Amino acid sequence: MPVRTALSDAAERAMRSTLLMLSHRKALGRLATQLPVTRPMVRRFVCAETLEDALPAIRALHDDGLRTTVDVLGESVTVEADARAAAERYGVVLDALAANDLDRNVSLKPTQMGLGIDPGLARETVGGIVARAVELGAFIRIDMEDHSTTDRTLELWRDVRPAGWRDGGADVGVVIQSALRRSDADVAALVAEGARVRLCKGAYKEPARVAWQDKADVDAAYERLMLHLMREGRQPALATHDVRLIKRAIEVATTEGIAKDAFEFQMLYGVRRDIQDQLVRAGWRVRTYVPFGSQWYPYFMRRLAERPANVSFILRNLWRERGRG
Ligand code: FDA
Repeated sequence: MPVRTALSDAAERAMRSTLLMLSHRKALGRLATQLPVTRPMVRRFVCAETLEDALPAIRALHDDGLRTTVDVLGESVTVEADARAAAERYGVVLDALAANDLDRNVSLKPTQMGLGIDPGLARETVGGIVARAVELGAFIRIDMEDHSTTDRTLELWRDVRPAGWRDGGADVGVVIQSALRRSDADVAALVAEGARVRLCKGAYKEPARVAWQDKADVDAAYERLMLHLMREGRQPALATHDVRLIKRAIEVATTEGIAKDAFEFQMLYGVRRDIQDQLVRAGWRVRTYVPFGSQWYPYFMRRLAERPANVSFILRNLWRERGRG
């Protein structure tokens, strides 16, 4: 590798680690969420702070042919009452999506539901949301957080999955991260259980003992797991903006006769909207992950870490704001 490339790779990795480390600093998060100057930049990735403002944004995506999954921002909850309040908010969101004839599809974080306090509490809170989803015929996706939560999250998913999924009733899906070394085994088990899996690369800083550290290894694992899920899985969701992997999925679906409605692409709100629209125009299913809420700090920092060029975008904006002030 040329010296310049090696240096810029190292700088990018260092920047990514720093941003992910800062994403855990709660005091910094409190400060950032109070600064008006950050708001317009956050808006690129977070559609709104309130449900009332999020609904028209979700409608606009539907009007453009995109499906949606809604995330009420929040995570790493340490107080039981906060976990219960978050679960209640999800109930309100599901009702609002149904009342407005929007996709009844939400994504939630286990530690937002109290997994870090007590797995029994998370079973109760997520179980309550799933009960409402069964009534509304909605789909719940349990997001995957860092590797310390993987086993407990898969257990939670097994505990709350409604029995009626086999007869076409509401279902609950999970997420697998190609960065984790364990994911081949997890995908094999989940395929055997008829699970609906979303495959992503993984947004957390993980140690080498559990996760691939080189991007090339993470990408190779993604391709391998993606092909497994496309060939043998149930309605997999391919969550990536990686154009090479998206083209590979299309090539495999086309040559192997995998129907366009047998899987879907998923992408984040504010990221590669151009590709999202192109795929919809070509007749592929695309679902946008739409986060809203005031607790956007850790989510926003992970988005910055994914593409360090985003940081210079932020700095340019801050500079411009300063010029106006
Ligand atoms: P990669 O990082 O290689 O990026 C490919 C290209 O996409 C980049 O070159 C750039 O053009 C663009 N891009 C990617 N991220 C960008 C950003 N933030 N800003 C601007 N451009 C960007 N993770 C997790 O650990 N648990 C989870 O539950 C989920 N859930 C989830 C749902 C959905 C719908 C998506 C799309 C992603 C997730 N993720 C996630 C995040 C995921 O693990 C990963 O961190 C990001 O998707 C970035 O990885 P890519 O696959 O896009 O590839």
